[in-house]
Amino acid sequence: MRLVEHPILQFQRGRRVMFTFDGEPVEAYEGETIAAALHAAGIRILSRTRSGAPRGLFCAIGKCSSCLMTVDGTPNVKSCVTPVRDGMVVESQTGPGRLNPDFRPQRAPARTLGAQVAIVGGGPAGLSAAQTLLEHGVRPVLVDENPHPGGQLVKQTHKFFGSRAERAGTRGVTIARELISRVRDEVELLSQAQALGLYEDGSGRTLVVAHGRRLTLIRSPYLIAATGAEERFL
Ligand code: FES
Repeated sequence: MRLVEHPILQFQRGRRVMFTFDGEPVEAYEGETIAAALHAAGIRILSRTRSGAPRGLFCAIGKCSSCLMTVDGTPNVKSCVTPVRDGMVVESQTGPGRLNPDFRPQRAPARTLGAQVAIVGGGPAGLSAAQTLLEHGVRPVLVDENPHPGGQLVKQTHKFFGSRAERAGTRGVTIARELISRVRDEVELLSQAQALGLYEDGSGRTLVVAHGRRLTLIRSPYLIAATGAEERFL
């Protein structure tokens, strides 16, 4: 089942695509995540623990490990934040998954990027930091692991409570939209990018980021870690 109407959110259905799940064809629409398309097809179990217990969607925003699947040969892909692509091969996995020893991902040569400040995390803290830097004439590079910035705000359709100074009465999704619109045109945004490590040598600091099919080396004297919160499994 797919929602076509929602009292708060609007959906735009993309082009129809097909992918396979454990060898069976599944219909999807561009813009959907793998997990969303599987749910729409009635598939709830995405992976299993080592002991065989079923795992499925939990946080749905890339902040746990409940939806890990093997995608095009790569294990441990967060299917709740990975967009579907025509022809994708998606497989359920058990435990940590297995990497085929013959699998050779195609990698492009690394590129180097200079930045006054690098921010890791595109949620409310990272976006607010970017906005403040821009107000002071500093143009940061923003690294975020999700397809769209906004962090946990993107699932908060409720109105905030508490103090007016902290946006009480405003929906989280609205706050995300506002923050993004303030910085979108001026920051360099690397989406679906994972910060792997920060290295220092005699000539300065380098933040190493996996982005698409290549590594991006961000040379920046300053780093803001705005990685937010995530659920921890017991
Ligand atoms: S359900 Fe995908 S990371 Fe939590």
